[in-house]
Amino acid sequence: MNQAIGIIGGSGLYAMEGFTQTEERVVETPFGDPSDVLIGGEIAGKQVWFLPRHGRGHRLLPQEINHRANFWALKSLGVRFVLCVAAVGSLKEEYAPRHVVLPDQYFDRTSRRAEHTFFGEGIAAHIGFAEPVSAELREILLASTKAEGATVHDGGTYVNMDGPAFSTKAESMANRQLGFDVIGMTNVAEAKLAREAEMALATMAMVTDYDCWHEEEEAVNVQTVIGHLTANAELAQRVLKRAVAAIPVDAEWVEHRALENAIITPKEYWPEA
Ligand code: ADE
Repeated sequence: MNQAIGIIGGSGLYAMEGFTQTEERVVETPFGDPSDVLIGGEIAGKQVWFLPRHGRGHRLLPQEINHRANFWALKSLGVRFVLCVAAVGSLKEEYAPRHVVLPDQYFDRTSRRAEHTFFGEGIAAHIGFAEPVSAELREILLASTKAEGATVHDGGTYVNMDGPAFSTKAESMANRQLGFDVIGMTNVAEAKLAREAEMALATMAMVTDYDCWHEEEEAVNVQTVIGHLTANAELAQRVLKRAVAAIPVDAEWVEHRALENAIITPKEYWPEA
């Protein structure tokens, strides 16, 4: 099936239940190995490929995730729509643990950006990224999250730090002053690569903590993150299933034409494949 939907699971979501016709696929890519085997299946008659970002058993740190291999693998399986689940810290009082945020902007504070593009090596291209999230897919996630009864915040800026250490208080305060809403370690690379691969992407950010700026709350630690996420994993799956059912897989959205005006190098100069 060539109109597939990809789901990237984050910390606490390493598998999806309720797939029919399940299969495992090992995909090799020119960039190396994806985070894990891809689990294929159907939901509401639609082909879905699930990939746990950190690998089953959570083996990969944020900077060890081979995002290019992950997105190459999804593309090679016909994925045109990607739903991500990502654990985030909250930088705003009103975004409490176990709430869902649907970011519509990113701020990239990562340092390994050369690994966050398929281009280079003889082909120069610059995708437009002013609107990094698919508006249509975000609407679908919003409706699905509401329908499942979760508290959801529509829109917000996700600041992507490198990690693996969490922020210092000074960094957390600075991120708040800059007006960012949530903080995480992985999702901006995914949004960039999805756009380069002409896939529509939206993210369900699950709030797990108040980072370390909040005077009355304990500073973030792994136990808290995993605790909230595990508690919310069932909700995440219900939302995802509802969202998958609502995606019009034949749709041609603006993200599906992202490369139309993005490639500078004329075709006759492209390296031999
Ligand atoms: N993921 C979950 N909580 C986080 C935080 N406070 N900072 C960065 N990544 C996170």
